[in-house]
Amino acid sequence: MKRVTAIYPGTFDPPTNGHLDLIQRGSKIFDELVVAILRNSEKVPLFSVDERLAMLRECTRDWKNVRVEGFDGLLVDYARARGAQAVLRGIRAVSDYEYELQMAWMNRKLDPSLETVFMMPAGAYSYLSSRLVREIASLGGALGDLIPASVESQLRARLGVVAQTSK
Ligand code: PNS
Repeated sequence: MKRVTAIYPGTFDPPTNGHLDLIQRGSKIFDELVVAILRNSEKVPLFSVDERLAMLRECTRDWKNVRVEGFDGLLVDYARARGAQAVLRGIRAVSDYEYELQMAWMNRKLDPSLETVFMMPAGAYSYLSSRLVREIASLGGALGDLIPASVESQLRARLGVVAQTSK
């Protein structure tokens, strides 16, 4: 029987519960899901790739068909090397669509055999992004149930900011 492997690529700086929601959904429909952290990003990250690898590995350890890796270079080349048939990306709102569609078309141009699959996270995460999480944490705001507790403690430690107890 054919096994379908999908790559869920991203920056994950830091991973959020929105990412984890999508990983869980993806793990249910693909035989194998590889969460792939881009190494050669143009963005200056708050957490190193190794730190993000460790965070995501800890948060996903109960899902046996999920693995977490770093990747360099073109996504299509990495997907081919991994034997993946699909790329999983999350769409939170219409505002994501244009950027995601452009990437999906370009990846199809580069490798027509690789399919992009879009999934929606739970509605509760539709406004959540790693950028906003970093900003709120740096200003001492409460992040509640938007990121895993283990990620929150590392975020507070990195930023040296104590969370406010009330909103
Ligand atoms: O979480 P992000 O920052 O939105 O993820 C973007 C990512 C990593 C998916 C994208 O930048 C990517 O795939 N980079 C790898 C290089 C590549 O293949 N670029 C062409 C994409 S069309």
